Amino acid sequence: MSNQSSILIQNAQILLPNGEFLLGDLRTQKGLIMEISSKLEPNEQDTIIAATGLILLPGVIDPQVHFREPGLEYKEDLFTASCACAKGGVTSFLEMPNTNPLTINQSALDHKLKLASEKCLVNYGFFIGATANNLEDILTVNPTCGIKIFMGSAHGDLLVSKEEEIETIFAKGSRLIAVHAEDQARILERKKQFATETDPAIHSVIQDETAALNATKLALKLSQKYQRRLHILHLSTGIEAEYLRTNKPSWVTVEVTPQHLVLNTESYAKIGTLAQMNPPLRSPQNNEILWKALLDGVIDFIATDHAPHTLEEKAKGYPNTPSGMPGVETSLPVMLTQAKQGRCTIVQVSNWMSTAVAKAYKIPNKGKIEIGFDADLVLVDLNNYRPVLREEILSKCGWSPFEGWDLTGYPIYTIVGGEIVYAQGKVNTNVRGKALNFGE
Ligand code: DOR
Repeated sequence: MSNQSSILIQNAQILLPNGEFLLGDLRTQKGLIMEISSKLEPNEQDTIIAATGLILLPGVIDPQVHFREPGLEYKEDLFTASCACAKGGVTSFLEMPNTNPLTINQSALDHKLKLASEKCLVNYGFFIGATANNLEDILTVNPTCGIKIFMGSAHGDLLVSKEEEIETIFAKGSRLIAVHAEDQARILERKKQFATETDPAIHSVIQDETAALNATKLALKLSQKYQRRLHILHLSTGIEAEYLRTNKPSWVTVEVTPQHLVLNTESYAKIGTLAQMNPPLRSPQNNEILWKALLDGVIDFIATDHAPHTLEEKAKGYPNTPSGMPGVETSLPVMLTQAKQGRCTIVQVSNWMSTAVAKAYKIPNKGKIEIGFDADLVLVDLNNYRPVLREEILSKCGWSPFEGWDLTGYPIYTIVGGEIVYAQGKVNTNVRGKALNFGE
């Protein structure tokens, strides 16, 4: 199907930009949202989607994923990851530079963009990775959603952990800087201290709350000093959230992952090293403080940090296991299940997973169901519950930290640029996404 054709979605609960739901119809044409009304008459060329009982939301924009291509395709690749996106209602993603080669210059970025144009079922954008010596590259490459600094928890050239080096990056230019905020020196010290431990729960003790707070404070200090646009990736602790409550400049944004909201240190006893990620999961009390910060607007939006590793790698035994877990397939149902249980509203979930992300990264024409906006949409079912099953996972890693969780809010249809990329359990692998644009 080409996006020259039109789709008529009939009788959905349509989430409008004012936060109200309209029970009605929506027509897409040439990749855009063309008409929204309580009743639209079908045309000959319309593909009809009967959406009675379903909720129509703007497609999810996941602003932090690791899709492993090029170089680590045995874990995931842009095709498998984007199939998982289609199933999860994720119509656009922003991907991280820790691939091989690292995405640290224009030619590596161009290569990723070319691969994505060939293989990606959904829309894509890429971060440029900072090293200690690629300042010119990070300021001039295009298109990029921003500069990623691993202040901690990285290896090789992507680790920029010394204050002078980090400051050099903050001091020049105006492009958004997104930080993985962990204090590498403290982590290394504590790794030595706990070197004989093999229980994965020790991961949260080694890379502790103070390690996260130290780095977040440093990033905020530099952002203040240079008035530099800063985004704090995957906030994990209550102490950081409380610090931000009183020390967050207007030009700073913050994200949290679903797993830092609903998983915690008790997860190690249930799923072992599958719960291991960076920054680590924290105590149940931290879940509560992060929820409060999200509801209060201290945290602006949600990212999955989709970071797949194979089950063989995850079976190596701590500390030889890699950190990270997949997320794009489950993030929307996990969050909508929380909404259904009264923790937040559907409108808030959609804002955190779409509208607020488009705004923060200045992605034009996305994140709202509005006439003239791109037809990136997801129809979800909040009437039925189903468990997450390993055998249904599309991510190449083949597992989820949410296996066995009984969730609602699964996508029934996902539409990218006016084309149906996922329908009732089936991915349409002929669809291709587009490169995202980012305003300055
Ligand atoms: O747990 C993580 N895994 N956190 C990161 O920041 C990187 C990621 C990965 O690439 O595996």
